[in-house]
Amino acid sequence: TGQARLNAILDNVVDAIITIDGTGRIQRWSPSAERIFGYSEAETLDQDVAMLMPEPDRSRHNGYLDRYHRTHEPRIIGSGREVMGRRKSGDLFPLDLSVSEARFGDEVLFTGVLRDATERKRVEGELLAAY
Ligand code: HEM
Repeated sequence: TGQARLNAILDNVVDAIITIDGTGRIQRWSPSAERIFGYSEAETLDQDVAMLMPEPDRSRHNGYLDRYHRTHEPRIIGSGREVMGRRKSGDLFPLDLSVSEARFGDEVLFTGVLRDATERKRVEGELLAAY
């Protein structure tokens, strides 16, 4: 089916794809998200996306969502940002994050595309050091 084909494609992209509901609860967790963060789907479904980040964002992320619902003024949506992620092991790592919004009637979902930026930053550092 079309859905099965779409799942097969999404399961094999390198970037992590994470969908949350309007309150930040994880609704979809891709295999790449498991590779990057070390958590299985069962450990993350319906959990707060804030579990994937260190302080101070961890305590503030619900407030970020509230602010967006109130103001509809995007800060990351549509532009993206480099942020810090936190793996299950507790290790922190740089992450390139982009977020988009989808509305179905009165339901709102956010989809995040996340890439571990550790390697990109290492290469950037080497390039800078070479000049
Ligand atoms: C807003 C951090 C993951 C959805 C924000 C903001 C920060 C942040 C700092 C507020 C930006 C500002 O006010 O200037 C992080 C970190 C993440 C993470 C460190 C590491 C895992 C995610 C994921 C999603 C998501 C995976 C969606 C699936 C949102 C939404 C907003 C937001 C919807 C509000 C809209 C906006 O500010 O554009 N996040 N986030 N975040 N984040 Fe996250």
